Amino acid sequence: MKVLVVGGGGREHAIVMKLSESPLVTGLYCAPGNGGIAKYAECFPVKATDLDGMLELAKKLAVDWVFVAPDDPLVLGMADLMRENGFKVFGPSKAAAIIEGSKVFSKNLMKKYGIPTAKYEVFTDAESAIRYIKEQDTYPTVVKADGLALGKGVIIAQTEQEATDAVRSIMEDKIFGESGSKLVIEEFLTGPEVSVLAFTDGESVAPMISSMDHKRALDGDRGKNTGGMGTVSPNPYYTKEIAEQCMREIFLPTMHAMNGENRTFRGCLYFGLMLTPNGPKVIEYNCRFGDPETQVVLPMLKTDLLDIMEAVENQKLDDLPIEWKSGACACVILASGGYPEKYETGKVISGLNEKGQLADAAVYHAGTKLSATGEFLTAGGRVLGITASAEKLRDALSAAYAAAEQVTFENVHYRRDIGQRALAAKK
Ligand code: AMP
Ligand code: GLY
Repeated sequence: MKVLVVGGGGREHAIVMKLSESPLVTGLYCAPGNGGIAKYAECFPVKATDLDGMLELAKKLAVDWVFVAPDDPLVLGMADLMRENGFKVFGPSKAAAIIEGSKVFSKNLMKKYGIPTAKYEVFTDAESAIRYIKEQDTYPTVVKADGLALGKGVIIAQTEQEATDAVRSIMEDKIFGESGSKLVIEEFLTGPEVSVLAFTDGESVAPMISSMDHKRALDGDRGKNTGGMGTVSPNPYYTKEIAEQCMREIFLPTMHAMNGENRTFRGCLYFGLMLTPNGPKVIEYNCRFGDPETQVVLPMLKTDLLDIMEAVENQKLDDLPIEWKSGACACVILASGGYPEKYETGKVISGLNEKGQLADAAVYHAGTKLSATGEFLTAGGRVLGITASAEKLRDALSAAYAAAEQVTFENVHYRRDIGQRALAAKK
């Protein structure tokens, strides 16, 4: 089987590395890919959002499979286009990807089907939103742009001023573009967060190992929200009892809800959950694998990923036993200093071997490129995800941090406390 993976970050590198283990895979391609992925798959400079360009590439390479990893091509309908052209696809249709593409859609879906989530209201004009904020007069409150906003469309406002500023910048200044023509204002929830990625074919749901992201830029969960500065799996807050409750109250109801709306979801559905004092609630859905969750989930997968893709596409997921390794996995993100705001790129990365790897850890490249002379250079905000596994989380973390110290580039920044909250939870 020849597989084209769409995307070019750490998540895609983890997908490519997992697929490279499969004896069924005879050709592995990635677009646009990056410097590290290029050591495992042939990369082509086609943007993930270039639907026509990607179709042309898939035809030229005569691949069997297209794995669409990022949200934006899915929301634009890349999976449909590829299926219409005879390719097998891992990734939901445009109709199903709306579960991430529109927060108004997902909130209304949860309300209609009784799936636990934060209480909310939808607004299409700034004045009514601001009136509502003043009436509620409860802080913090949460303001969310409707559409995709590079993971930055959520503002937790601590005061009336911050909330009204958020509304005006989303709706009037359009800081997130058309994503902000509608918005959701919702109740602020508290509790540990859990990411659960799940394979689903519309008939059954197979949750993967749970994980915990660390979204803020700085230690102690301070600083700006980022795409994710590190992850651990499994998430110790996510007990077997809570997993069963989530299956009953959230995962299966979501699958049935999407079927009920004629939007059957086939692919990886990401449940961003908060374990509140009143039970688990959905913070967000994503229509794809998480980044950097994938980097600590896929290394734990024993079953051949291509077999799972086949089962999902043929709606035979229920027949396939999916096995996981025991133990824990940790990923520390090495970012460019200044990320998620202004940062520089083009810095030489030292310490990696010829394959872009380290002896004692997997290195998932998020933002790197190869120089003309074959050196790895930084090419993004998040640069590398250094990942290690071990029987105990503590040992996985030590191994990931020891490996991280062997790599360096100018202005490298990483959090020193990835996994500390998970370790504390275990006591
Ligand atoms: P998102 O961009 O949807 O991943 O949201 C970013 C982060 O905002 C989440 O990971 C939560 O930490 C936080 N968040 C979103 N919605 C709420 C909420 N209703 N209550 C508390 N925190 C929230
Ligand atoms: N790590 C969060 C996400 O992928 O959306």
